[in-house]
Amino acid sequence: MSREEPLLAPRVSSERSSIRYAEEEDALLTGEATGHNEAPRRGWRRWTEIGLFAWALIATIIVIILAVVYQHDSSKNLAGPPKDHWGPGAKPTGKRNLIFMVSDGMGPTSLSMTRSFRQHTEGLPIDDTLILDQHLIGQSRTRSSNSLVTDSAAGATAFSCGHKSYNGAISVLPDHSPCGTVLEAAALAGYKTGLVVTTRLTDATPACFASHANLRQYEDSIAQQEVGEHPLGRVVDLLMGGGRCHFLPNSTQGSCRADDRDIVGLAAEKGFNYLDDRSGFDALNGGAGVKLPLMGLFAEKDIPYEVDRRHQNDVYPSLEEMARTALTALSEATRDSEQGFFLMIEGSRIDHAGHGNDPAAQVHEVMAYDRAFNAVLEFLEKDSTPGVLVGTSDHETGGLAAARQLNKEYPDYLWYPQVLADSKHSSEYAGNKLNEYTSGEGKDKSDKKKKEYILEILKKDMGVTDASDEEVENLLRPDVSTQYIFADIISRRAQIGWSTHGHSAVDVNIYASSSKNAWPLTGNHENIEVGQFLADYLDLDVGAVTKKLRSSAYWTTEAEESPRSGEI
Ligand SMILES: *[C@@H]1O[C@H](CO)[C@@H](O)[C@H](O)[C@H]1NC(C)=O
Ligand SMILES: [Zn+2]
Repeated sequence: MSREEPLLAPRVSSERSSIRYAEEEDALLTGEATGHNEAPRRGWRRWTEIGLFAWALIATIIVIILAVVYQHDSSKNLAGPPKDHWGPGAKPTGKRNLIFMVSDGMGPTSLSMTRSFRQHTEGLPIDDTLILDQHLIGQSRTRSSNSLVTDSAAGATAFSCGHKSYNGAISVLPDHSPCGTVLEAAALAGYKTGLVVTTRLTDATPACFASHANLRQYEDSIAQQEVGEHPLGRVVDLLMGGGRCHFLPNSTQGSCRADDRDIVGLAAEKGFNYLDDRSGFDALNGGAGVKLPLMGLFAEKDIPYEVDRRHQNDVYPSLEEMARTALTALSEATRDSEQGFFLMIEGSRIDHAGHGNDPAAQVHEVMAYDRAFNAVLEFLEKDSTPGVLVGTSDHETGGLAAARQLNKEYPDYLWYPQVLADSKHSSEYAGNKLNEYTSGEGKDKSDKKKKEYILEILKKDMGVTDASDEEVENLLRPDVSTQYIFADIISRRAQIGWSTHGHSAVDVNIYASSSKNAWPLTGNHENIEVGQFLADYLDLDVGAVTKKLRSSAYWTTEAEESPRSGEI
């Protein structure tokens, strides 16, 4: 098949035999010639056959020997990395800080897409890279204990505990027993600790560092544990992000708790300073003189996507601002102590943009994460305490492809970043705006009026002026997600592809402030090795924490709750 032949065109059946056709297919896959054009050379044939037989016999023996040796080697590897695995740079011996960043749902294609988008919109040269690109050190294999495709809970449990578990597990093992986390171990060892996210603080990634639950949906319980109703007492010193609704009693407006417990009040009892808006955040003064523990819940659920948040900077702090403030606060709080701090920072909503198949939202999420990554690098450079930044993703989301074939003709090799640049808002924003209209002001309006409203959103918020009748009709159907349709309108025009609204199994990137300081993570690794590195860097014994947790009466008294939110 010639390279320029259309991929989707039906195969023309050839006059040649199907066996020969299959041979050629093999040849295409292996890159080796099929040999059907060679003239037979009879004189040599017998000797060639004998030679081949001998060679096959020897090769088989070699393969068996290698298999035995290899098996021996890999069973040794299960015992963990060798003790002298710290390479150049080594691990600091005294006080040290560890910042772990999670880019939830960010796969390799997210980087390529965002890099090209930024070059295009900012007029940068074709070799311009993201900060992240300059700090790539390896890859992580992400499967969970029960699936080839992980969720964020099993993914974060691999990081927090260094163990594989099942999808939905919040730092519990496959047998549902709790596993000690790097944050808990750090807190017990005298480190200050922090969690900074852009989604709910009760969502899977932050939850895995400071709580334990059989299911990620138990967010009410997770909120309690995070503020200190935890078998080990309070383990987190700084919490910043969204998810206020799980901390408010069900009698309060904006609550999503099943019960009437006031977790903000509980946090106050545990000593937390509490803030819930931008002015409270600004009063922190960039983190100088902050009194820990501190809890900032800046949104009922998620902090808006960066593509939307940038228009409301006076309402919500950015990930970079929260990261800088947290670094300063934790650094000052540990100025005179023997131990440093552990901080987890998550670019939570890269994942959401993947679930929504929204490329415009995603490029802005990745750029915001890149700026936060840079803020941490700057901190480490200036700070006198040694430290390391390690960043990775729990998994990829969306099966993102930076190219898309939309019809039968052989596709052009391109995608269109300008379409993403023209979209001023996320599909979530556009979908919510339309839903509010059709259930409110526009409820009794004619279809013609509703279509006019849709065309206005498309033009004003998404930069689309060529929507087809079918696309507009689809947005009026009662059985569809308007958000998904808006995202599809953008993706098709940009020629960006998606294979799922869920997660995928592709290996994700590992980044570090310097490969020298995270030497054991260079190359391709299982995700639990990232978790093992975190504990190892701070010389923490998470196994001892696991024992403590298991002997706690807490686990026999934990109340069952009904799951409230869907798996993401
Ligand atoms: C609020 O929580 C209490 C228990 O704490 C429960 O009895 C009540 O039904 C809940 N109310 C709502 C509206 O869910
Ligand atoms: Zn997800």
